[in-house]
Order: sequence, then C-alpha cells, then structure tokens
Amino acid sequence: MGALRELLEVDDLEVEFILEGHPRPVVSEVSFALRKARTLCLVGESGCGKSVTALSILGLLPDPPGRITGGHVWFDGRDLTALTQNELSRIRGRRISMVFQEPMTSLNPVFTVGDQVAEVYRTHLGLGRQESLEKAVEMLRRVGIPDPAQRAGNYPHQMSGGMRQRVLIAIALACHPEVLLADEPTTALDVTIQAQILALMKELRDEMGTAVLLITHDFGVVAEAADEVAVMYAGRIVEQADCDTLFHSPWHPYTTGLLRSRPRPGDGAGGKGRRLEAIPGTVPSPANLPRGCSFEPRCSRREDICRESAPPLEQKNGGQLARCWIPPAKEA
Ligand SMILES: Nc1ncnc2c1ncn2[C@@H]1O[C@H](COP(=O)(O)OP(=O)(O)OP(=O)(O)O)[C@@H](O)[C@H]1O
Ligand SMILES: [Mg+2]
Repeated sequence: MGALRELLEVDDLEVEFILEGHPRPVVSEVSFALRKARTLCLVGESGCGKSVTALSILGLLPDPPGRITGGHVWFDGRDLTALTQNELSRIRGRRISMVFQEPMTSLNPVFTVGDQVAEVYRTHLGLGRQESLEKAVEMLRRVGIPDPAQRAGNYPHQMSGGMRQRVLIAIALACHPEVLLADEPTTALDVTIQAQILALMKELRDEMGTAVLLITHDFGVVAEAADEVAVMYAGRIVEQADCDTLFHSPWHPYTTGLLRSRPRPGDGAGGKGRRLEAIPGTVPSPANLPRGCSFEPRCSRREDICRESAPPLEQKNGGQLARCWIPPAKEA
C-alpha cells in the first residue's frame, strides 16, 4: 500500500441536459483522478454540476434529459462511458459505490436495514441468506451502530438521521469497493454527527484503501476530509489543488469568495452569528453562459480579456490548477 495509483480517471467529461427543448451543457471539460486511500472533495454552489459529475461516473444520469456528450471515465483499463447498463451494474455497488444526496429516499421503507445491507452480499457476492445477514450485522457494527444485531431488524423510520446515514455508508462499503462516491453524505446531519461520520469514512477508507470522491458545498467538511480539492463553477472545474494550498493560497476569485463566505470559529454559535459575505450575483444559467469567463459577471478582479475569452485551466505558480487570466495579487 501507499503508492499513489490512480484508480479512476475522469477525462474531459462533457454532459448535456435537454432543457426547455434545447441541449444545454451542464458539465464541461471536467477532469480529475481518484487515488487509492485518498479523498478528493468536489465543492461549489448549488447547481454547478457536482451530482451530475458523480452520476455520470456510474452511468446513472437520467437519460433523457441528461446525456454524456464527451470524455471518458477510466477505471481498471476500461472506459465506463462506453459500457452497457448491464456491464455497469456489475461494477456498481461492488467495485464503485455511491452514497446518494437524498438519504431519506435512498433507503427502502418496507425492508429492514439489516435486509438492505444483506442484499448487497446476496446480489454481489452470491452469499446465502443467513451468511449475508451475519455479514450485514458485522458491517452495521463497523459503522458504529450500537447493538447491531438488534438494530438490523429496524425499519429506516425507526432510526435517527445519523443512524440512517451510517446504514447508507454500510451499504456503500459492504463490498469493500475500490471507489466510493459520496454526494453530500453529512449535509442533513448536525455538526457532531457529521464529524463522526467523516471520521468513520476516513477510517474505513484507510483500512480498505478506498478512493473517495466527496461532494460537498461546505468548506468545514473540506477542511476535515480532503486531501485534494476541485472547485466547480457553472459546470467547470475552476481551481484544483491540494487542500492546504487551496485554503492558504487560493488562486481563483471564486475560491476566494467561497472561502470568505464560510462561517469561521468565533462567528457565534454554529457560525450563525455573523453575516456571510456572499459572492454578489448568481450562477449563470446553462442557457446563458457568458462568452468569456463564466465567473466574469460576478468577479471583482475582471479585466477586458475576461469578457472576451474563456481562460483555460492551467498550472499556476502556487502549484494549483486554475481557470483565471488575472493573478490574485492584482485584486488588492
Ligand atoms: N434531472 C434533471 N433535469 C434537468 N436538468 C438537470 C437535472 N439534474 C441536473 N440538471 C441540471 O444540471 C445542473 C447541475 O446539477 P447538479 O445536480 O449536478 O448540481 P449540484 O452541484 O449537485 O447542486 P446541489 O449542491 O444543489 O446538489 C443543474 O443546474 C441543472 O441545470
Ligand atoms: Mg447535488
């Protein structure tokens, strides 16, 4: 263990949705790699394409209206975008699994949680009923559910939000997947439970060597969990860096804006005492992207060039990748 092997590579992904009868790009030029036992956080405001990116990896876009129109997802020498649903179903839940954004809708209300974890062992490993259930109880114990043999008999509505989230993580990790895609796995939870679940994911990740894509809009979560961070804006990655670089010397004005808008210690209880310094303006609609840089209309650093042409994602002198023409120093 230890060597950084790139387990999964998203290469120049393009996704379109048919919106109001027209094809609109919602994800463009998105590339990143997921590495063994490392966590890449994908951050950005609502609607920037985080979930669509994750769903595309597993071929789970609602099609129509969504469609992958370009790029590749490389995993174990194969391009997942070229596989049939049948071929993908053999990878999903077993080698690559996902914790979906809506925890309430991801569990089936009419089956016990033990059954739902056991189902993974039955379908993917072909284990018998009894053995699957035993393994499920063991997995529930691993994710910190007290008295798992008994709780396995609970239905989802008999559990708290934090416990249900642990069940979802148990389902996702049951087969020791090589890759875990976790879409806002702690957003609905209070801060203490959130910290516990993040710690748990990290522990299991290290133990199993899982590569993790963690989607969040919360920089508190990023600080806690990320090795590397990709910041998305209007369907594109606008900055990508290791976690320390991103927090200490962000390049892109959007990253700077997001960092400024996050609650900080000393802001009052739960960070709610201080007004957030929101970035002025709103994300452009995919139907109406500016000709130049998508962030230009909201940018405090903009110059003429930004209106005229879209900057490429390129390596900057802080070592990170950023999609911006104007260096941060000019902002002061
Ligand atoms: N089912 C859908 N039908 C039509 N358009 C969609 C659908 N799902 C996503 N989109 C489009 O794709 C864009 C990106 O959506 P996505 O769900 O990836 O955002 P997100 O970054 O995950 O946001 P959030 O933080 O709110 O979860 C949306 O703004 C929307 O235009
Ligand atoms: Mg989402």
